[in-house]
Amino acid sequence: MTDPINPAATEAWAALSHHRSAFHASLRDLFHDDPQRADHMTYQVADLTVDLSKHLATSDTVSLLVDLANSTGVVQRFEAMCRGDRINSTEDRAVLHTALRRQRSDSLEVDGVDVVDQVHDVLDAMAALAQRVRTGQWIGFDGRPIDAVVNIGIGGSDLGPAMALRALEPHVIDGLSFAFVSNVDPVQMSQTLARLDPATTLFLVASKTFTTAETMANAQAARRWLVDAAGGDSSAVSKHFVALSTNAEAVADFGIDEANMFGFWDWVGGRYSMDSAIGLSIMIAIGPEAFGEMLDGFRAIDEYMAHTPLARNAIALSAMLGVWYRNFWHWPSHAVLPYAQLLDRFAAYLQQLDMESNGKRVRIDGEPVDYDTGPIVWGEPGTNGQHAFYQLLHQGTSPVPCDFIGMLNPPQGYDQPGDALAADQPTQHDQLFANMVAQSEALAFGKTASEVAADGVSAGLVSHKTFPGNRPSTTIVADHLTPRVLGQLIAFYEHRVFVQGTVWGVNSFDQWGVELGKVLAGRVLSELVDAEAPLGHDGSTNRLVERYRAARASR
Ligand code: F6P
Repeated sequence: MTDPINPAATEAWAALSHHRSAFHASLRDLFHDDPQRADHMTYQVADLTVDLSKHLATSDTVSLLVDLANSTGVVQRFEAMCRGDRINSTEDRAVLHTALRRQRSDSLEVDGVDVVDQVHDVLDAMAALAQRVRTGQWIGFDGRPIDAVVNIGIGGSDLGPAMALRALEPHVIDGLSFAFVSNVDPVQMSQTLARLDPATTLFLVASKTFTTAETMANAQAARRWLVDAAGGDSSAVSKHFVALSTNAEAVADFGIDEANMFGFWDWVGGRYSMDSAIGLSIMIAIGPEAFGEMLDGFRAIDEYMAHTPLARNAIALSAMLGVWYRNFWHWPSHAVLPYAQLLDRFAAYLQQLDMESNGKRVRIDGEPVDYDTGPIVWGEPGTNGQHAFYQLLHQGTSPVPCDFIGMLNPPQGYDQPGDALAADQPTQHDQLFANMVAQSEALAFGKTASEVAADGVSAGLVSHKTFPGNRPSTTIVADHLTPRVLGQLIAFYEHRVFVQGTVWGVNSFDQWGVELGKVLAGRVLSELVDAEAPLGHDGSTNRLVERYRAARASR
């Protein structure tokens, strides 16, 4: 790999800095000056309609941002990623989540192996297991079929499947329940197990490394619960435990049959793994066919990304607008606001995808950055957020660029109490969509002091009731939240993160920043259980350990 380019040293960056200092246009001006702006700046990205018009950008802004993307080699790096170059150089790995959704007829050789063949072998094995569970042919230790699936994993081995199961709930098979246990806090496992029958529960132990402390602790707890229920017969484990991992040796040590292990490869990053074996819970829930449709959705976006020039590529433009706000307006955060209850875990999923990827302070060559990188990503479904934090979005001191995500149609399978109303009466889904549209409008155009005063508001309240506007947002709309659309949404953000990481020159595929806490937790853990162990931390840490020891001793 060539060295990363320092984006701040490029001509494009200097031009953007200059452009920013001279940027005085408001969204009111931009829409007034170009009544067709929404048409020019709305893009069809597979099944997603992406409206970028409510951004603080002129055509000059867009072309300078495209210059920056070009000068930092976004296209070349995307090609390098997709062909299997070892672009994750700090871990010496290829980055090939795009291979997880290649068609069976494709091929991609990496180190002499066709990875597409490998991918489809695993997908076939997953489909066979999924069908056995879905049709009641997978039998537990007392001869009854499985009726509950529990995914035990954390981070990328939890957030994607957990988010997708909620998003695709209308597609989930009847008669099977699904649960996700991630936290090492025993409360989560015990709350989950309390609702389940061990003889009819299948555990999917999802861990790329199969060493993650939280997952191993939870898996051992579940194993004890199962073996106890089976009268101490540990052979029951093979009927109730499946592993999703790259670490065959550790899986065997745990006691899980090799036949019940679904593998993937070191070229799949944890936070990019929900369409690998890590997605087995999704496949059991929605079936192999719908899982295939979700993969088609991912692939449609990969193809869009590969074939759409940056200047017309809504994913790259959305990413570059994020760079514009982060580096030239110095706004620290980015909100993702789905107006879809079924996407209630989407922001949590994106937090790992984005912040674990681009929350970096050195470039891939180890040189410190002297510019900001990944923003804080957060969000909640609308309309709940409106009654919590939107006050700050509208009138706070630091604008937050927002992504609104909404579906034109309500999900099937849910009662729509408004359906019985006359056609001109708003249903609840109408209300939901109206709120999304209104929020982006209010953020963009605000309400001036003179408009407020013209409403007859008393002078003392005018400033309180004024909305500055000029707060940018993207709106992404699709017809229905199908598996295909969900795949597209996720891939949209995967590649958005990729483009930003490339521009910032960071390695979006390692996560060294999670290591120190893990190591220190191991040391502290041994000190908590050994009351005699000398403590050599700072005063604060020592006191906390001592307090805990005292509590533990008096339990
Ligand atoms: O939090 C660090 C991390 O390594 C994530 O990147 C990963 O998704 C998660 O832990 C779980 O890792 P594993 O799948 O190996 O258990």
